[in-house]
Amino acid sequence: METLADKLNSYENNYWDFTEYREKKVLIKYPAMMVAPMQEQLLQDILQYDPYITNILDPFVGSGTALVAGAKLGLDVYGIDINPLAILISRVRLEGVPIEDIRESIAQLKTYITLFLGNTNPIEFTNIQKWFRKDVISDLSTIKRAIQHENNIQIRRYFWVCFADTVRKYSNTRSTTFKLHVKEQEKIKTMDNDCIQYFINRVSALYVDYVKRNDDTNISLYTGDSIDILTSFNDSSIDLICTSPPYGDNHTTVTYGQYSILPLLWIDLDDLDYFDKTLLEKFTAIDRMSIGGRYNTDKSDIDIEYKDLIAGISDQKAKKVISFIYDYCRAFAEMARVLKSGKRMVLTLGNRRVDNKEFPFDILNDRLAQKYGLREEAMITRNIQGKRMPSKVSHIPNLGSVKSMSKEYVKIYKKL
Ligand SMILES: C[S@@+](CC[C@H](N)C(=O)[O-])C[C@H]1O[C@@H](n2cnc3c(N)ncnc32)[C@H](O)[C@@H]1O
Repeated sequence: METLADKLNSYENNYWDFTEYREKKVLIKYPAMMVAPMQEQLLQDILQYDPYITNILDPFVGSGTALVAGAKLGLDVYGIDINPLAILISRVRLEGVPIEDIRESIAQLKTYITLFLGNTNPIEFTNIQKWFRKDVISDLSTIKRAIQHENNIQIRRYFWVCFADTVRKYSNTRSTTFKLHVKEQEKIKTMDNDCIQYFINRVSALYVDYVKRNDDTNISLYTGDSIDILTSFNDSSIDLICTSPPYGDNHTTVTYGQYSILPLLWIDLDDLDYFDKTLLEKFTAIDRMSIGGRYNTDKSDIDIEYKDLIAGISDQKAKKVISFIYDYCRAFAEMARVLKSGKRMVLTLGNRRVDNKEFPFDILNDRLAQKYGLREEAMITRNIQGKRMPSKVSHIPNLGSVKSMSKEYVKIYKKL
């Protein structure tokens, strides 16, 4: 009988690259987003080999791509992310918007914006003038006030996600990096401000995966550190894990927290799931709490061979990689514990470069899999096309820009 590995290998060359896929019609872009149709195809194939899957967990859910694919196949979904904006986006994508009310709500929203324009108190927060031009602050404040007048929470959350996208686009931060970095003054001065029209267009486009959801499946989303949150899950309670974990570059390249902080300072926090508000006090706080963000690691607590994986990396940089390995090992142990025997863990992984040396994250995962009784069943190597990654990453003296990852590995492990 054909195995899952045979099936996945039977597609034509480069099938898994999904070269034709473009992210134009996504609700909002999120750093390192998965390729949606690729995940959907993969889950469909897995379900063909195991029709008894009833739930799916993504412990690093981001904007929810893997869970949306799972929910479309009728699975109960569990998602965790340290970033409150990620959970908001995932919730909106998974819960959808109610078809019977949405058009009317959009019409009302436009009326409120017209009504409030020019007579709304501007929002204030520390350094707001650094990150937004005065006229933009005034318009965004108007939009915020109009959104607050929407009564339906599901629709309001949808509006907040479109607003988050607008806030980032019209802020003074550069669009070429996920890090917060102010544009040149000349560019700020000459930037067109059509943020109200842009926001209305985003809202009206209805780029949602569900306009009305079928309510048979359960959606469970948690804001927080998956290492902690997973401890509340029972042993062997999950049928399928599908995730793309962070690669440990949350302070340098893929700064999910810095990417999200400006929208989070604008959105009404009462409409988000509960989270520790001190995360908003510093721009780096979310990234610091993320996997690999804490540097006070006791190396002796890492009980897996890793020294060969960081050979050749300078001591200073190695410290960060070790703290990443330390956190990731704990997260992996929890993922392995909650997964049922005979069930699969699907990890989309990249090997980033540190000190211009590849850090073989795929090998670390193989070792962890072996330690926790999982066997590699199949692997897909794909060229990264639509993944939101800056093409150039760090600047190293004398070497110029270093190309970022161009390949990723989808590892499918099965728990014995
Ligand atoms: C590669 S992204 C996931 C992207 C997602 N697959 C998508 O399609 O949008 C990794 C995510 O892990 C989250 N993360 C990092 N450390 C975490 C932790 N300790 N607990 C929970 N989430 C964490 C980041 O905030 C980020 O959203």
